[in-house]
Amino acid sequence: MVCASNTTYGHQQLENFLLDPTYLNFNHGSFGAVARPVLDAQHNYVLQQEARPDIWFRETYKTLIVETREKISKECGLVNADNLVLLENASAAVNAIFRSLSLQRGDIFVYFSTAYGMVKHTAAWLEVDKGIKILEVPVTVPITSVQSLLDPMKNALDDLSPEEKAKVKVATFSHISSVPAFIEPIKELASLVKSVNPNALVLIDGAHAIGQIKVDIPALGDIDYYLSNAHKWLYAPKGSAFLWTNPEQIDTVRPQPSVISSENDVSGGTDYLTRFGYTGTKDFTAYLSISDSLDFRHSLEEVNGEGSIIDYSTSLAEWAGDHLVEQWKTSRLSPKEFEAALFNVILPTTDYELATKMQTDLLNDHGIYMLALLDEESGIVFTRLSSQIYLEKADFVKLGDLVLEYLSPRK
Ligand SMILES: Cc1ncc(COP(=O)(O)O)c(C=O)c1O
Repeated sequence: MVCASNTTYGHQQLENFLLDPTYLNFNHGSFGAVARPVLDAQHNYVLQQEARPDIWFRETYKTLIVETREKISKECGLVNADNLVLLENASAAVNAIFRSLSLQRGDIFVYFSTAYGMVKHTAAWLEVDKGIKILEVPVTVPITSVQSLLDPMKNALDDLSPEEKAKVKVATFSHISSVPAFIEPIKELASLVKSVNPNALVLIDGAHAIGQIKVDIPALGDIDYYLSNAHKWLYAPKGSAFLWTNPEQIDTVRPQPSVISSENDVSGGTDYLTRFGYTGTKDFTAYLSISDSLDFRHSLEEVNGEGSIIDYSTSLAEWAGDHLVEQWKTSRLSPKEFEAALFNVILPTTDYELATKMQTDLLNDHGIYMLALLDEESGIVFTRLSSQIYLEKADFVKLGDLVLEYLSPRK
């Protein structure tokens, strides 16, 4: 069973990760970081795969994938694993669903302006290929309350004619958006969409969710699809994600993976789990390591308390946000309640070019990786930071001081 070699949160956790000791990572969110014992476990799977290839692909992998699906389903509050499949990333999950939908010319696809680029690109492909219409609802920052999201969505849907309302066929929301990062009121947003057309399908892009916040799929209300990356916040290897499909949609929409394999008889004979379970010969070991990343986390939480990984990262983020706002004399982009380990702070400059130069200089001079970002509509220059169990308050104090130094007029 995979377990952590060191259980103390803070810099001692660096022992459990492979991060370069001279690299200070404030952007865990983009690509995650695999835990060392989890990567070792994955390597072990690779050795088994290469030692007896046929036994691996025909037997061992097929047994282990069932166990992994069961474990991650339980983690997400699901009573069984019948509707959850593993795939390589959130992009594959979004593509699988959207490209399986039987949409007609003029059908409407709804999302916020803060939807991830890949989601917008997939919708744009449907626009070109099938003639669907996109309803992009603008989100204005800073966000001040839950109404900052619910009101624009409600107004945009209310403005549609009765004919258009009937054509709202699909909507997608991020559980935690990417840039800027904030937790969205999923349940309320999904019911707004369904109040316009009860048959509309709602997909939740939870790419940033599992491991950063508690994910309880049944508690999210009337949604049709949920997906999350394990390689971002769960400490699993790159190329590990899951997709849950509401059982009601499995037979009607029949989602197909992006790759249709030799084990997938698309004439109707192959079930959902098999379709996604084998997508041609490739290394599936990252999928199986989701199970090891859960064991790794449980070994830390056995010592530090249930939920302590999320608690540590969220409270460090909250403290860091307060500290930076006070030091930089700026503000957050959304209230604390909208943030977990990912948080956005306005930088003490309006000069985006200077901020991006600072991003480069911080990396070159100090090995610090932080993102400098621009909200084009408001002109606000901000950073989206990630807290993690391998970071401490001192790291954010250092960042705060350096940012002021680099953005001061002398630089
Ligand atoms: C909200 C959101 N959705 C989807 C993705 C895509 O994830 P992946 O690159 O693993 O497919 C990201 C990546 O950062 C994201 O932030």
